[in-house]
This record gives sequence, structure tokens and C-alpha cells, in this order.
Amino acid sequence: MRALLVDRSAPAGLRLGQAPDPVPAPHQALIRVAATSFNYGEIRHGLEEAPDGSVPGWDAAGVVEQAAADGSGPAVGTLVTTLAMDGAWAELRAVDTEWMGTAPAGADPGALSTIPVAGASALRALHRIGPLLGRRVLITGATGGVGRYAVQLARQGGAHVVASTGNPEAHSDALRTLGAHEVIVGPGPKALGTPVDGVVDLVGGSQLVDGYQMLAEHGTLVSVGHATDEREHFPARAFFGDQGGHDRTIASFYLAACTGLTRDLTWLAERVAGGGLDPQISWRGSWDGAAEAAEALLGRHLHGKAVLELD
Ligand SMILES: NC(=O)c1ccc[n+]([C@@H]2O[C@H](COP(=O)([O-])OP(=O)(O)OC[C@H]3O[C@@H](n4cnc5c(N)ncnc54)[C@H](OP(=O)(O)O)[C@@H]3O)[C@@H](O)[C@H]2O)c1
Repeated sequence: MRALLVDRSAPAGLRLGQAPDPVPAPHQALIRVAATSFNYGEIRHGLEEAPDGSVPGWDAAGVVEQAAADGSGPAVGTLVTTLAMDGAWAELRAVDTEWMGTAPAGADPGALSTIPVAGASALRALHRIGPLLGRRVLITGATGGVGRYAVQLARQGGAHVVASTGNPEAHSDALRTLGAHEVIVGPGPKALGTPVDGVVDLVGGSQLVDGYQMLAEHGTLVSVGHATDEREHFPARAFFGDQGGHDRTIASFYLAACTGLTRDLTWLAERVAGGGLDPQISWRGSWDGAAEAAEALLGRHLHGKAVLELD
């Protein structure tokens, strides 16, 4: 099969080549991939760790070519969106049936391919915060793939949504269109004003520290992302519970450790297919353009999702 292979001598460390067809385990279905999307984490860290010649990639959407031998998961011909820690950037992919969601027939595979990492991480992080109705929620790194889903989902959950970006001039209108009530630069007290009940932090460093300090009593910050390499330095007394600081939580997050993702992936796929969620595709093209998309993502020139179609 054709696949994007890790090749450190090629632009962005990726080369279009040939790889052996995957052999599914009994609990895996074989998917014919139609589209895949890039995530910051896999381009920044995943490629560094993958051996030359391997097929990377987390997100892919396509059609079930061979159902799982153990009888789990969808039937042949079902449109699905899938997640795994590798193997997405190829014509065929073997995936655990627990890590796929079904999609309505006729849905756009490109849009579906944006869901697994970005959509499911946003949804699970918001679940961790708890009820959103009438709550004030901050999303840092809101212009990225996860952030754009998080803004939409938090708004749909009934939250007052504050979106943070390093460049509000460029992104304020788009974030407000997605559902943000306020767009700010960084979560410091001056920009944020009133404390928040929940934070989905996609940046880390000083934004995590400032976001935590702006949590109201009983508030939760979910530390999903580490887009910056900055360290987190908490000032003295940051963890004292007086002066409104009682019972505040910082929760770590790892999507691959989440269970029960099928239900969430299917729900997200229905919302995207029905137009209730916008996948925010900002780059779309053939997989010949993989290096261009990867470099744009790393250079912070690409905000939203990059989708590669397998032709
Ligand atoms: N723990 C998990 O399981 C999990 C799951 C999914 C994602 N993640 C992580 O979550 C983060 C966001 O993912 P994503 O796919 O949405 O990434 P993304 O599309 O690159 O978006 C991240 C956003 O953060 C901001 N940003 C980037 N670099 C920054 C820097 N050095 N300093 C401050 N802000 C910066 C940018 O917004 P502005 O340019 O507008 O400021 C960018 O739009 C990544 O670190 C990713 O690895 C983790």
C-alpha cells in the first residue's frame, strides 16, 4: 500500500512510499483510509520518536474494508473515524474497534478525520470540568485544532466562553463566530478580570500558572496541551486555600488513556456531519502536500486543522 513514511532526509521528515499492508488483530477492523488530519503533537513529538520507514499518524477516516474477526465494531462498508497511535497516514489501517466511531453515510471524510484527537480531547477535557451550564470557562490556545472544538463545545454546553490567543487581531472574529463571548491575550488577571470555573489549557507554562490562579473556588483546570516549552513556576502561596482558593484542581490529561471513546467519536461524527460542529479545516490538499502542511503547523502559520486526502 502507499503510505507516508518517516524519512529524516526528506522535507518535514516525511516521504510518500510503499509499506506492507497491515494485518488486523482479532479485535481490529481494517479501514480503507480516505482522509487523515495532522495534529501538532504528532508532528512535533511523534515524528521525532518514530523510526525511519515507519507509518505514523493518529487520525484517519474511511470505510471498513474488513470487519473485526471477534465480531466487535462496525460492519463492512461503514464510514468511520478512527484513532490510534500510528498507522493513519496510509491507504489501509488496522484499528481497535474501541477506538473508532461510526459516521452517517455520505459524510465528508476530510471533516471526519479532524475529530479523533482534536474533537475527542476537547470533549473529554470539558467533561472533566463538569457541568458547564452557567459556568465561566477559559480555553487557552483556542485558535488550534483542539481549541476550536473546545470553544464550540463549551458554548453548546451552556458556558460563558473566554478564548485566549496570542494574536487577537487575527483570530478574534473567527473565535467569536465559533462561540467565544470574550477573546483575550493570555489568562492573566488583567485580561481575564473575573475568575473562571474551568480552564482547558492547551499551552502550558505561564498560561497554565495564570489560568490556575484565575480559578474560582471548586474550579478545575485540565492540562491538555504543552504547546510551549516554558516551565510552570507557581508563586508562593499559589496552593493556599484561603481568599477564594479553596478546593481548586489541576487535572492532567492523556487522550490515549481514555476509555469508551466509541460513543464520543460517534456523537462528534454525527454533529460534524450534521453541521452542528465546524471542523475548522484551514488547510486541505493531497498527501503530496504533507511537508507543506506539517511545516505550516509547526511554524504557527496554520491555525485549525490540516486535512490530507488520499488520492
Ligand atoms: N494530552 C493529550 O492527550 C493531548 C491531546 C490533544 C492535544 N494535546 C496537546 O494540546 C496542544 C494543542 O493541540 P492542538 O492540536 O490544538 O495544537 P495547535 O493546533 O498547534 O494549537 C495550539 C495553539 O496554541 C498556541 N501556541 C502554539 N505555540 C505556542 C507557544 N509557544 N506559546 C504560546 N501559545 C502557543 C497557538 O495559538 P495562538 O497562535 O493563537 O496563540 C496554537 O493555535 C498541543 O500541545 C498538543 O500536543 C494533548
